[in-house]
Amino acid sequence: MSQTITLRRPDDWHLHLRDGAMLKAVLPETTAHFARAIIMPNLVPPVVTSDQAQAYRERILNALPQGADFEPLMTLYLTEDTDPADVAAAHASGLIYAVKLYPAGATTNSASGVANFDNVRAVLEKMAEIGLPLCVHGEVTDAEIDIFDREAVFIDRVLDPIRRATPGLRVVMEHITTRNAVDYASAQDDTLGATITTHHLVINRNHILAGGIKPHYYCLPVAKREEHRLALRAAATSGDNRFFLGTDSAPHTDANKLLPCGCAGCFTAPNTLSILAQVFEEDGALDRLERFTSLNGPAFYGLLPNDATITLEKSGASYPDHIATEDGPVTVFDPGFDLHWKVL
Ligand code: NCD
Ligand code: ZN
Repeated sequence: MSQTITLRRPDDWHLHLRDGAMLKAVLPETTAHFARAIIMPNLVPPVVTSDQAQAYRERILNALPQGADFEPLMTLYLTEDTDPADVAAAHASGLIYAVKLYPAGATTNSASGVANFDNVRAVLEKMAEIGLPLCVHGEVTDAEIDIFDREAVFIDRVLDPIRRATPGLRVVMEHITTRNAVDYASAQDDTLGATITTHHLVINRNHILAGGIKPHYYCLPVAKREEHRLALRAAATSGDNRFFLGTDSAPHTDANKLLPCGCAGCFTAPNTLSILAQVFEEDGALDRLERFTSLNGPAFYGLLPNDATITLEKSGASYPDHIATEDGPVTVFDPGFDLHWKVL
């Protein structure tokens, strides 16, 4: 008999669903396995007001595959013009679950992000007061800071000062990629959480750059040295309640990835759970997989874990190289090894 593992249904605490034809094509890949997801607001134009978040939520619900049981947890994109009262009302009505901070220019569609943090002080104070989490893309954007150092520098120069200036603010360090971030998060109280992606548990920077450039492994924050990947694996598999899954599944068409200046993002929604089961098994931590995928995240957000379950069977799994969309093919993240665990 093959081995199985049953988990409470997972949630994805950082997901890009896009819009239009892309939304329609990628949404079923998430709803097949996940019950809820924190939906990133970096559309073009970004989702900055509660009205826009409401309309985007409806577009997502309209795109759901038949019979899907999925709740999009909406976010607002923080700009220097964000109105604290709009944020508070969107939270009070149950529409939004977090506000997203992109330093201006840090990543895909982040041009409207924050350049001067003094201009968002009132919003952050309101969020601390009402307990609404700030999801942070933690990279500085200064041209003189090496791209591999941008997360570590952000923690010292931006994140820690914001948290000190705004006591009680709940913060999610998103898609952490360094030992520095693991160490920082591990030393904080329970107002801080950190998401870790599937791909950052699997690839280091050699996978992107050694033996030819691999655009499909390029994402932001960019994967770092092996020692950082190992620190992320130790954090994810530890069961520590500050660390939880945010896939950052970020679909781009192959045409937009395979360019002289290609887009950042790995599309991991289809095979994330197969990969994670294998990673946790390799590290002797299969019994802690559920904490990472299904328990720690809801606890941070003050939500109950899902009642429904999913079962994975160790009988071999295969995934297509890409999914088709009306905009063109989107390549599925290739972990570089055969997968054993299949979601039943
Ligand atoms: C994301 C995207 O494509 O929207 N890309 C990525 O590499 N992760 C943006 C982001 O989350 O940084
Ligand atoms: Zn992202």
